[in-house]
Amino acid sequence: MREYAIATIPADGIGPEVIAAGTRVLAAIEKREGGIKFNIENFDWGSDYYKKHGIMMPTDGLKQLKKFDAIYFGAVGSPDVPDHITLWGLRLPICQGFDQYANVRPTKILPGITPPLRNCGPGDLDWVIVRENSEGEYSGHGGRAHRGLPEEVGTEVAIFTRVGVTRIMRYAFKLAQSRPRKFLTVVTKSNAQRHGMVMWDEIAAEVAEEFPDVTWDKMLVDAMTVRMTLNPRSLDTIVATNLHADILSDLAGALAGSLGVAPTANIDPERRFPSMFEPIHGSAFDITGKGIANPVATFWTAAQMLDHLGETDASARLMQAVERVTGAGILTPDVGGTANTKEVTDAVVDAIYASN
Ligand code: NAI
Ligand code: MG
Repeated sequence: MREYAIATIPADGIGPEVIAAGTRVLAAIEKREGGIKFNIENFDWGSDYYKKHGIMMPTDGLKQLKKFDAIYFGAVGSPDVPDHITLWGLRLPICQGFDQYANVRPTKILPGITPPLRNCGPGDLDWVIVRENSEGEYSGHGGRAHRGLPEEVGTEVAIFTRVGVTRIMRYAFKLAQSRPRKFLTVVTKSNAQRHGMVMWDEIAAEVAEEFPDVTWDKMLVDAMTVRMTLNPRSLDTIVATNLHADILSDLAGALAGSLGVAPTANIDPERRFPSMFEPIHGSAFDITGKGIANPVATFWTAAQMLDHLGETDASARLMQAVERVTGAGILTPDVGGTANTKEVTDAVVDAIYASN
């Protein structure tokens, strides 16, 4: 029996709804596969915990998580707690504390989903965005001075290090090399940002030498939004900074039909710490409690988790089941359907049991 310790942190809003759905699907995979066991432990951290204890997770939170093989995360964000507190109190400390420096965001148009672009169907848009996840614009460097006075200043300093850029570039080239097209697009803004971004371009060229079989090109981030929209077939693997890739991957999710289908993996490639798997979306206050959250992103990220754990057959089985269900038109309202979270989850569970 191959056993995996999984920490679930559903947290806020629709997080608990989609993680409950994901946990059911993992149980179905466990039964259908045989030979795998998930030992799941749940953590009630998040905004409710904050309202009781004044912190989003206990001070020894990372120590508690360290022994797990993976973390399965919902979303943070509450209407009555400032967003920078929820994000910096839970999700970012895990990403940064566990040095999950590669944020991997696959996007494709799933069968049965009508994307917003004309003439763009399944197969026309198949990307993986690699987001630098440990530094850059979200390094937390900066401050405020002269608060409340007319001369108040706020700085938000982007930090790019040679170590940080080289390791994400290497990860992205390696990932591009593993995909059939062996093609990487490096995104920067090295015309207007002439220090850190020029260093990105230089390091990309250096790392490219190690991967002679990978073709690569460069894009400025603003022009990249145009290329993603008007020429999606021209892209495959993409690497960008923390901020740029954050924005581009929301666009990618929308172009693939909905944020509700977009997954992400926060990976420590060196496997010193557990990696964390989550849907891209947030806590979606507008639909919380209605039972209509799309669980597909949370299922897809579970497939990423299975891949990371080396359970590639189980991962493929899960994705095939998801695609069978979307292809059959069993969809939540965000992707034009009438099914609710439970109906989609039931259908995926059935498809897992029915799979060969
Ligand atoms: P959001 O992703 O929560 O929602 C944006 C829109 O997409 C909403 O209309 C929502 O209903 C819809 N949507 C999102 N996920 C969906 C799903 N699974 N099924 C169906 N529809 C879905 O982003 P928003 O509204 O900007 O932020 C809400 C809160 O979430 C904020 O507090 C924000 O800080 C937080 N947030 C947290 C993230 C995280 O935990 N990783 C990521 C993004 C936002
Ligand atoms: Mg985002």
